[in-house]
Amino acid sequence: MLITREELAAIKEQAAAEYPNECCGVILARGAERRHVPCRNVQDQMHARDPITFPRTARNAYYMDPIDALRLNRLADEGFAFAVIYHSHPNAGAYFSETDRGQALIKGEPAYPGAVYVVVSVVGREVKALAAYRWNAERRVFDRADTGDLDPAEPAVSRRLLAAAERRIPGGVNSPVRAFRSVGGEPRFVARAEGARLWDADGRAYLDFVGSWGPLVLGHAPRAVVEAVTAAAAGGTSYGAPTRQEVELAEAIATAYPSMELVRLVSSGTEAAMSAIRVARGATGRDLLVKFDGCYHGHADSLLVKAGSGGATFGIPDSRGVPSALAALTLTLPFNDLEAVRALFGARGSEIAALIVEPVAGNMGVVAPAPGFLAGLREVTAQHGALLIFDEVITGFRVAYGGAQELYGVRPDLTCLGKIIGGGLPVGAYGGRRDVMDHVAPLGGVYQAGTLSGNPLAVAAGLATLRALEDRKAYARLEALGARLERGLRDAADKAGIPFALNRVGSMLTGFFCAGPVRDYADAKTADTARYARFYHGMLDRGVYLAPSQFEAAFVSLAHGEDDLDHAARAAADAMAAAV
Ligand SMILES: Cc1ncc(COP(=O)(O)O)c(C=O)c1O
Repeated sequence: MLITREELAAIKEQAAAEYPNECCGVILARGAERRHVPCRNVQDQMHARDPITFPRTARNAYYMDPIDALRLNRLADEGFAFAVIYHSHPNAGAYFSETDRGQALIKGEPAYPGAVYVVVSVVGREVKALAAYRWNAERRVFDRADTGDLDPAEPAVSRRLLAAAERRIPGGVNSPVRAFRSVGGEPRFVARAEGARLWDADGRAYLDFVGSWGPLVLGHAPRAVVEAVTAAAAGGTSYGAPTRQEVELAEAIATAYPSMELVRLVSSGTEAAMSAIRVARGATGRDLLVKFDGCYHGHADSLLVKAGSGGATFGIPDSRGVPSALAALTLTLPFNDLEAVRALFGARGSEIAALIVEPVAGNMGVVAPAPGFLAGLREVTAQHGALLIFDEVITGFRVAYGGAQELYGVRPDLTCLGKIIGGGLPVGAYGGRRDVMDHVAPLGGVYQAGTLSGNPLAVAAGLATLRALEDRKAYARLEALGARLERGLRDAADKAGIPFALNRVGSMLTGFFCAGPVRDYADAKTADTARYARFYHGMLDRGVYLAPSQFEAAFVSLAHGEDDLDHAARAAADAMAAAV
């Protein structure tokens, strides 16, 4: 335990009270005895008296009252040691910045080697985050101390909520992978989130790389999205009638995805993929569908065949309840195996309505398409009169503004979108060639509908998100952030001497605990999932929230800073060393 509950409460109170000024204080210990000395920041007075010697800049935001310095010296003389040194950052994250680190060292040596440095982030008089750092004598750097140690409370609230949830909700969760079954332990119940961080119901902060499984490319609660949703809600939450904003969203999508000549909005990725295959079957008059092992396209019956994501995690290739007659219409092949695709189409091409693929797989962990794979799929499907469906529910607006089809220069017949186009609210979309989409009701005979499709709140969130991305500058930054996290994770694995294969496309990545390379689902399954589980909990303990499964992507958002990625890398180095 680094801080007692009472000390923590007092620090939070002081930080909020002194906002927007920085606060500071020290907790000293002598054996079991502890003394808390909140120090006074006299920067305002000093600056008023002598603005030249005491400028007001980010680097000079704090001057300790000399009386407090004397009190600390006296306690040190009495045998008390500095146990905790804390300070606050107004309107910033709980980072131990380069300036902070510099000030904690004297000629490269820690001024108080045994002390823990606690940084408190305060925004608008509210404490948003706390983080603790301590000197690592071996590596000669300040490392993040466990958040678990910082807050002495057990995850009691999460535990209570889980017990209540399990009484009413299957497994206590509304989507299976949230239940932590593949990594063990108990899920954290989330209370709120902002930027790159989320807080659990027990008040612990985590640096988040799940990003709600992909939609939150701008981070949590970006102001533009929150304002757009709030304004939309004030105008009514749903009409069951068309709106101007739906047209704008469809237009924005079609502009970014020229292959989507007509677009239909739905409420989830599952609905988008399910509807796209119905349209493909309706348009071609054929029944067979081809998909790849480990690719997940939502939980519609025809698509829960050798799916990744929850299915891969639990080792359930098919779901019970899917009629075998229906599953028999879905043929599966290994991802990245163009020869297998050619052979299947050679044998049954005239019966195949469509081939559906995640152009960058994300649900067996991230697996990029081999060079020429997507172009090969385009060629083979066209040759046999089958439709090519790109499921860009994850990759859409993620790997490029125009998705994987822009990145790899391949034009599918139909595209499924979701996640980012809803900006964190429930939206999906499917669309494609006009002659194919002409089959959708009310134009054609393929029925598909939805009470809340094109919902005003979701459309507002989606439009606000796309507007923040449309100048495309974000993608260079996402690439740089992704590359930085990749480097950090690779270094961590190298240092720990762990076999590790990292796949990354832009801001989506997966580090597999196996030697690799990982090119398909069979390769992915060679990963050491028990080691991943140990690593996962090591990261969670260090305040980093990853997907609770080896077979998922980590997502970097525009709210992540370089500091965050470096923190994640340091945490990974420690967690991997412990997970050997
Ligand atoms: C590639 C892909 N397609 C479809 C879906 C289903 O989307 P949803 O969960 O919104 O129904 C997902 C969900 O993760 C996905 O990753």
